[in-house]
Amino acid sequence: MTFEVAEVRALEILDSRGRPTLRVAVRLADGSSGAAGVPSGASTGSREAVELRDGDPARYAGAGVTRAVAAVDGEIADVLTGRAWPSPAAADLALIDADGTPGKARLGANAVVGTSMALARAVAAARGVPLWRHLNPDGVRPSLPMPHFNVLNGGAHAPNPLDFQEFMVAPLGAPSLPEAVRAGAEVYAALRRILTAEGHATGLGDEGGFAPALVEPEEALRLLVRAIDDAGYARGRSGVSIALDPAASEFRGEDGVYRVAGAMLTSDDLVERYAALVAEFPIHSTEDGVAEDDDHGWTALTERLGDRVQLVGDDVFVTDPALIEDAAARGTANAALIKLNQIGTVTETLTALDVCRRTGFGAMISHRSGETTDAFIADLAVGSGCGQLKAGAPARGERVAKYNRLLELAAAHPDLPFAP
Ligand code: PGA
Ligand code: ZN
Repeated sequence: MTFEVAEVRALEILDSRGRPTLRVAVRLADGSSGAAGVPSGASTGSREAVELRDGDPARYAGAGVTRAVAAVDGEIADVLTGRAWPSPAAADLALIDADGTPGKARLGANAVVGTSMALARAVAAARGVPLWRHLNPDGVRPSLPMPHFNVLNGGAHAPNPLDFQEFMVAPLGAPSLPEAVRAGAEVYAALRRILTAEGHATGLGDEGGFAPALVEPEEALRLLVRAIDDAGYARGRSGVSIALDPAASEFRGEDGVYRVAGAMLTSDDLVERYAALVAEFPIHSTEDGVAEDDDHGWTALTERLGDRVQLVGDDVFVTDPALIEDAAARGTANAALIKLNQIGTVTETLTALDVCRRTGFGAMISHRSGETTDAFIADLAVGSGCGQLKAGAPARGERVAKYNRLLELAAAHPDLPFAP
């Protein structure tokens, strides 16, 4: 549908880590409006779209976003206002063109993605449909995603010695979204009781998972399995299963050697370690098991475990449709993590999801470690029908905002299938 943009405004707000980010608001000529909060990662892929930060050490240690705000209020508003747009995709393409750099570095990927998300909301309002319906491509069946709850944090998201970044639980056996949310929260509560009983700290990492001073990934996995048992669920596909995001780019040295709990591992060693973990624990998915630039490791990992385990690429694909397409053609990995701000517009994100659908790749929509209470990704997961969402722990406002939005949609639309 054709629409006209009347106003685009941004504001510098705080994200869940207390760092500045943007809130962007778009108003259309017909009075419809939409706003969006921009997320921000910590363990970023080297080919991600680039945030524009002020670099002024006198404000927020250089992390201020007043230049990105100015880009929205100035150049971006100039591009979008004063003409009719045939579709949101046309407006997104104009933003990409106006920026003119591969990583959206000039206007700032944070400025561009916030505008693109707010615009999607405004156009959905103008169409009189909820965001998830607006984001639902023709011929694609919407569905409620399987939530992946990050209950134990390490890596770049916590100050503990644990090298693996995320230990998630996914209630694969749950009959419905509300029962899956309940299982996630009950396992999280059981894990807290176990940690407390064993004298571990129960402070939280950036994504709301506990961050005890564990060292070996096996210690964390043993605690997770106990928490699943204690909460009264079966382990694995008929109950609650485990997903890992080691975020291996973060613990691979310049020398190409991985460092896990003090041990030096080649990519082949690391792949064997995963094979052992998968044999011992109920793990259905690993993300970034090897580093983004470790081609040999990705091939070895896929050959070793690709028939049994979902192998998700995050840093290696950075939600780039061309990189996902290429990996699918070469047969490395078998799923992609999908993050709006990694690529920078809603349109490119929808294209990445389309590539996954076409190539038979799995897709998991994801939050970032720095978040706002914006639940856009919950609607994106439902509208794209991609089947999986990770949005952190079943705790902390910016994380539960996403799960609560799913609960709302599940209640309002009993006909939506759950994780088909
Ligand atoms: P990030 O972490 O948001 O800090 O990049 C999330 C992830 O690696 O999946
Ligand atoms: Zn990741």
